[in-house]
Amino acid sequence: MTSSPPPVCPAHTTTAGLTSLSEVTASADPHSVYRRLREEWGPVARVELEPGVAAWLVMGYEELLTITRNEKLYSRDARNWGDFQTGVVPPDSGLGPMMFWRANVIGADGEEHRRLRRPLDDGVSSIDQRRLRRSVQAMCSDLIDGFADRGRADLVAEYAQSIPLLAIASLFGLDMAERYELLAGLAALFGSADDSQAGNRRFEEVLADVMNARRSALSDDLTSGFLAHPDLRDDSEVLQSMVVMISAGQETTTIWIARTLQLMLTDPRFAGRMRGGRLGIDDALDEVLWRHPPMTHMPARYALRDTELGGQRIRKGDALILGLAAANDDPRIHDGDPSAEPGNRSHLAWSAGPHACPARIPARLITRTAVETALHRLPDVRLEIPADEIALRPSPWTRCPVSLPVTFTRPLSPAPPHGA
Ligand code: HEM
Repeated sequence: MTSSPPPVCPAHTTTAGLTSLSEVTASADPHSVYRRLREEWGPVARVELEPGVAAWLVMGYEELLTITRNEKLYSRDARNWGDFQTGVVPPDSGLGPMMFWRANVIGADGEEHRRLRRPLDDGVSSIDQRRLRRSVQAMCSDLIDGFADRGRADLVAEYAQSIPLLAIASLFGLDMAERYELLAGLAALFGSADDSQAGNRRFEEVLADVMNARRSALSDDLTSGFLAHPDLRDDSEVLQSMVVMISAGQETTTIWIARTLQLMLTDPRFAGRMRGGRLGIDDALDEVLWRHPPMTHMPARYALRDTELGGQRIRKGDALILGLAAANDDPRIHDGDPSAEPGNRSHLAWSAGPHACPARIPARLITRTAVETALHRLPDVRLEIPADEIALRPSPWTRCPVSLPVTFTRPLSPAPPHGA
């Protein structure tokens, strides 16, 4: 189909002059950066991941589908990353936590991936949605009760950030004390370097204790489902499956909740449509997935041989980053009119292909319940700072507000629980 390959890109061996991915996520208007990159490169642009390390940012909708659906050419296994093999990326690189290979579903291809993925899919489909909704509603209300008397709160640190882990850990059968211990371990893991190793150890210890306790008395939770699953071969695979579900859901769902609340607090068009009932909560959540997908940039696929994508010459071992926010805004599929978004779920916030997020249903349920509970209980909530002073956590991958400081008068009582 293609004739001769395009010439080797002069920037292939250096990152000088390349746009850094962290600058894109830190920009007040990343879409203007994507436009500039598209003009310069087309739908697949060379960017810098960290000083001296380059990768391709795949911004085209079609190109993104190509790399996520064709795992024989684009592997998920980071051991195929040329810059990792040659030591260009040092073992202590800040890219490690998101990009280095680990023995879990995320780093596997083909049949090995399907084997590790089946327990997750089976686990997700076994979730009792009505029960999950009731327990998330109760957790959200407890968090609100915790700051109710103050009349002010930070809706990221004191609300959005706690809910996903507490909710997902409840699915694994952790009691309240264990859930809060896990939360503290995760906070340490992502916090200062000093106690991050200890945080990581504690996180895995809590989960290992739950796994060991369930082995002697299986229950109806996801831990028991994993222990009994014929595709998981040993304790280490069970534990890693628990770790991956909890950690993959934490940051992403936090951002989805925080971004939706941020839009409610800062975008009168969005808030007016939602409060006035013209925008249903699910449509509002989809609008956030179109405009602010929680994973702005998702690592990565690794080319298994030389090829061509979006007019660029890709070489064996090159890393390709999934430009999910950019692809949602690809001018070839989207003309920028937000009214085309409600009811339309063809965005790529969940990615695509065999690795696409397995947890859309519980993630939506958790996010919807968290947003609805906040809106119901804090009807006069107001942002305490100007909208343009909301800072973002530095990251090449995500754009999460650092905090959403708000004020309110006394919260209303919780709504009576309703069905799923
Ligand atoms: C209950 C919350 C969640 C859980 C338990 C969860 C779990 C997971 C897991 C286990 C994977 C790896 C799947 C695989 O490699 O086969 C994954 C991938 C992914 N998830 Fe989720 N997730 C959650 C929420 C979210 C949310 C809210 C978003 C964004 C809207 C999201 C977006 C993604 C993306 C983009 C991927 C990567 C797909 C790829 O590499 O192609 N997830 N998720």
